[in-house]
Amino acid sequence: MDKAFSDQLNMSLSDLLAAQTGLHFPRERWRDLERGIAAAAPALGMPDAESCAHRLLSAPLTRHQIGVLAGHLTVGETYFFREKMSFEALEQHILPQLIRARAPAERRLRIWSAGCCTGEEPYSVAMLLDRLIPDQQDWNITLLATDLNPGFLRKAAEGIYGEWSFRDTPDWVRERYFRRRKGQRFEILPHIRKRVTFSCLNFADDVYPSLVTNTNAMDVILCRNVLMYFSPVWVKKVARNFHRSLVDDGWLVVGPAETSNSLFPQFEAIPFPGAVFYRKTQGAESQAGAAGYSFPSLDPFDPLPETLQMPAAVTNASVQSVAAEPVASHPSNRDERDVLCRMAHFCANQGRLAEAIGWCEKAIAADKLDPATHYLLATILQEQGENELAVQSLLRALYLDPDFVLAHFSLGNLRLSQGRQREARRHFDNAQTLLHAHTQDEILPESEGLTAGRLGEIVASVRLSLPSVTAASG
Ligand SMILES: C[S@@+](CC[C@H](N)C(=O)[O-])C[C@H]1O[C@@H](n2cnc3c(N)ncnc32)[C@H](O)[C@@H]1O
Repeated sequence: MDKAFSDQLNMSLSDLLAAQTGLHFPRERWRDLERGIAAAAPALGMPDAESCAHRLLSAPLTRHQIGVLAGHLTVGETYFFREKMSFEALEQHILPQLIRARAPAERRLRIWSAGCCTGEEPYSVAMLLDRLIPDQQDWNITLLATDLNPGFLRKAAEGIYGEWSFRDTPDWVRERYFRRRKGQRFEILPHIRKRVTFSCLNFADDVYPSLVTNTNAMDVILCRNVLMYFSPVWVKKVARNFHRSLVDDGWLVVGPAETSNSLFPQFEAIPFPGAVFYRKTQGAESQAGAAGYSFPSLDPFDPLPETLQMPAAVTNASVQSVAAEPVASHPSNRDERDVLCRMAHFCANQGRLAEAIGWCEKAIAADKLDPATHYLLATILQEQGENELAVQSLLRALYLDPDFVLAHFSLGNLRLSQGRQREARRHFDNAQTLLHAHTQDEILPESEGLTAGRLGEIVASVRLSLPSVTAASG
């Protein structure tokens, strides 16, 4: 083991990691920190722990450095159906309720495994859904799984596991959903693997909720055994963002060791046998409001141009009626469009997609030539599963602004999901070329806070995962 760091060095590293990853290294955990840095040094191209520490402190951490550090500083411990009582509450209460409520009409369900590690958690949820919804082809189900560590995500996407991933798992799981491979390895069946979408997301750095990262309008967020590594300040920040990422009455599930009376004030704590879940209810929200909770920036409560001011005490329920009234005597088309787009955003973040589309259409009627409105409509249509209509809206956005980076990126993703790889590649190439005109830290238009640097990394990693083009593809 390398020699111990000075207190000053440990302190600076702890501050850096807290700021860029949310990870909390108080004095009692400095030995873990030193061990982690020593283990990460070779992968970061450094000869020893101390020079590695100094290099890390010399500039903001890159995405690559964060990924490597995450692999050595966080615990990648997980297994299928971990914390049985939480899965029982999901299977017996939360999911059946949601399914009953959604079955008669929209048949839409959105679940996010945040801090999914090597995938055991989101795949366990996919198996529950497989048991609870036999006719999944008639549903629009999103099962998003994110993590900070790209190595974990690669393993998750591969879907091959050893015995240790089943250490406290009921037998039916392996019997029904895996096939045996050589060397005591087990491969998850493709129909379950395909139901989960993996992507890299850092709670301390990335933007959520966001239509761009598909982290909005969630019904359930599982963030278990992750927040325990964060400082209370960071837990509160992350919880506030999760609250905004959930629809009304949505659920946040944390690990049993992470439940707290003080860290999730905007939620109502609901006990189940052996587990406490947090629910986004109106009552809890207004209490949190009194405690200083502020609404997201894309909320219709944000300051508007003076001519378009709404009454101060607007409530969610009255948003629709207020906006349906003429909001001002002679607003310019652009101001009117901006208000209508905010309504669309607000409804989309709540999962009220049909309403959101209605607002977008009104916004387009007010100002047909705004590429951003067509782009917004496309993201909502895509969320609704209307991929071909989304493509049409993106093409309109690009016709109006051929340099619209996010429209190229979204079109690339859509084409990829349609198996049209050649076209996908072309749009990703366009996005990458256009990004050169932006500085790394520049927030991209219509991105809800995504920087050009971060999108560049995302595009690069998607391009790397594209299979090489064959004559048949695209
Ligand atoms: C112990 S695992 C939890 C896995 C799973 N949720 C469970 O309960 O079994 C913790 C995970 O949190 C991830 N993590 C830590 N910091 C993170 C951050 N800032 N953003 C996103 N994920 C993070 C780690 O990479 C790791 O995969």
